[in-house]
This record gives sequence, structure tokens and C-alpha cells, in this order.
Amino acid sequence: MRFFFIFLFAMGAVFSSALRSDEFDASQFKSWWLDFRDTEGIPEKLKEMEDYFVSSGLLEESSKFWLFLNRRNIEQITYQGYENFKQTVACNYFTWLVNRDHGYAKNLFRNGTQFLDTIAPAELTKKHALFTEMQSLQYNQTTVMFYFYLIQNGAGPYLEKLEEPQFGNPPSITISGKSISQDTLNSLLEYLSIATHCSMSTVSCILEVGAGSGRTAWCFLKQCPNVKYIIVDYPPALYLSQTYLTSVFPDKKAFLFRPIENAESVQEELDAAELIFLTPDQMRLVPDKSVDLFMAIDCLHEMKKNEVEFYFHEANRLSSLFYYKCWMDTVVPLDEIPYPFSSYPVRFSWRKIFEGECIIPSDFSHAFYQVL
Ligand SMILES: C[S@@+](CC[C@H](N)C(=O)[O-])C[C@H]1O[C@@H](n2cnc3c(N)ncnc32)[C@H](O)[C@@H]1O
Repeated sequence: MRFFFIFLFAMGAVFSSALRSDEFDASQFKSWWLDFRDTEGIPEKLKEMEDYFVSSGLLEESSKFWLFLNRRNIEQITYQGYENFKQTVACNYFTWLVNRDHGYAKNLFRNGTQFLDTIAPAELTKKHALFTEMQSLQYNQTTVMFYFYLIQNGAGPYLEKLEEPQFGNPPSITISGKSISQDTLNSLLEYLSIATHCSMSTVSCILEVGAGSGRTAWCFLKQCPNVKYIIVDYPPALYLSQTYLTSVFPDKKAFLFRPIENAESVQEELDAAELIFLTPDQMRLVPDKSVDLFMAIDCLHEMKKNEVEFYFHEANRLSSLFYYKCWMDTVVPLDEIPYPFSSYPVRFSWRKIFEGECIIPSDFSHAFYQVL
């Protein structure tokens, strides 16, 4: 529930009445979509994905919470454009519009704010087009503190390879001559959490579930350019990650989402692709033990229990390593499903590489397993 209130606060969302769980379900989403799908401005590719989502049975699998957010995100893409997604939809993913006392950032401000003085005031107060002045200032301050936290912890050489792409109108600021956003920094933090515990040179295929706009994929692919990356998600996130990553990496061979009736007909294409975009029902196309690293970041705690069980089953079937990052303790809004961190269905045979609290956000935990 905490997340829901943060979400409302972060988005400044206006709801005519408080949503009750019985007011938003699969049939409501379906009738809303059938009305909305002909609205001017919906990208054709997004329409194709949503039609598939609604007709293939995926809709009924989704939590009510993600149906609710998906509707909102489709509206944002339609009315405010893909061009602005890093200041609209991304605020439903991992862009936090919170002040420095909030659990997200509090570890960054624990030892003072001296790094803020190293940044030109005009940069620190830069207003991002779709954020308020206060949201922009808080976001910029946190970005600066986050950047120097990473520098102090030895991330300089990895940051060298990163500069926030300008697609999607990111709320970035210039630090040390480079465009930096918190997407850049959160993704690098995730990369380092994994890379300090395993040799990334042994990882040649990554599968990420619930990848949002593809921010983490972008960072991993900048650090490890030869890795094959498979994204499994629902639309509209799948539309965003596909559009974004194929723009940022135009030379990579991509297998784009499409309905697949005959697995054999696409196998060769899947084998050759460097970037693959699938819906959850299409994960069956990924062969057993063909993935080195399976990741689920900020998504499991927003699903129904059977979906979480499905992804743990798939991690077990497909991968040698599994990393996930979730709220320490939460309840899925609208669905009212509790998720203490200890409740995930880890297999008995897996070897724990680590489990612990995240530095940022401070009320998240993460775990990394060798899948045996
Ligand atoms: C809060 S966003 C986080 C996105 C991204 N991991 C990040 O940290 O920026 C949650 C993501 O989970 C996805 N999601 C929700 N339910 C899902 C499901 N059952 N299967 C796959 N993805 C799902 C959403 O579409 C979205 O991409």
C-alpha cells in the first residue's frame, strides 16, 4: 500500500474517488481498451501489443494494480507522447519524485549535503518540463548526491561508459560534463550489485522480466556490449523498452514483439537476435538453461502470487543466476496481496550468493542466487 500512496504523491495524480479493488478488473480494462484503442495518437505498435494482451489471456493473469497502471501509462504515451516517457510513465517505474527524507534517498543525505555545493546553481535548480520546480529541485539534489555516492564507492570507471540517452526527455542534469539521471545511477547500482559477485565475462545471455522502459538493459548493454538481452513484459512497458532500446542500439539485431503461432518458424531468428522482446506467454520459446542471468527488478511485489511462482519456475528452468530486488515488505495495492521479502518461493536447491538491504531505495531488499 505504501507504494500506492507514494505513487499518488509522486504523480500528483487526481482521482475522482478512491479506487476500490472491485472497481478495476480485467473486464473493466477490456471495455476501456476497446473504447480507447481508436484514440488518435496511439502508436500502431502499441495498439498491436495491447490487442494481443487483451485477446491472448494475458489480461486475466495481470494484477489489478498493473491493469490500473497500464491504463494510466497508455494514456500518458498517447497524450504526452513517447517523446516524454522519462518524465511521465517512468514515474510509475523507478523515477522517484520524493524529498530527501523519504526512504528512497535518505541514505544519500545521511552524511551531509556538501556535494550539492560543487554543482552550478543553474544546474541544480534546472526545471524539467513535466515536473514542478520543487519536484525538479528535489530530483536534481538527489541525483547529485547519488552520483557522488557512486564515485566515492569506486564506480567512476563504470560511469565513464554511461551518459543518459536523450530519447524520452530525461530529467537529467550535467555533472562532470555529462548528462546524468537517476535511471543511469540506479541501473549502475544494480549492475555493480551483480558484477561484484560474479564475473560478467561469463554472462552471455540475460533475461529481464518487468523491465519497464529498458533502463537497466541499457546500462548492462553499455557495460557488456556483447551480451544477448531478452525482455519479458506486458505492454505498454514492452512497447517502451522495444522502442527505446532499438533506438539507443540501432545496430543490434532485434527480434521485435509479434504474436507467434509456430515456435519453429521463429527459432532461427531468435537464435540470431541480440535483443529480444517477448510477452510472458512467449517465454516458452526460450530453451532450458539458455540464460546466464535472470533479473526481476521492482516488479515481483506487484504481481499475483501465481505470476511470481511462474517466474521463479522460469528462473529455475532457464538460468544459472537469479537476481531480484523488491520492497522489503509491501502489499500490492488493489489486489491486497502481502509481500514480505521472505515470502518469495526460492528453491531449496539454490545457493544464496547474497541477500540484504539496498542502499537506495533504503526500504528495498535484493537477493542473488546461483540456480542449481
Ligand atoms: C514498477 S515497474 C519497474 C520497471 C523496471 N524494472 C524498473 O525498475 O525501472 C514494474 C514492471 O513490471 C511489469 N509487470 C507487471 N506485472 C508483470 C507480469 N505479470 N509479468 C511481467 N511483467 C510485469 C510492468 O509492466 C513494469 O514493466
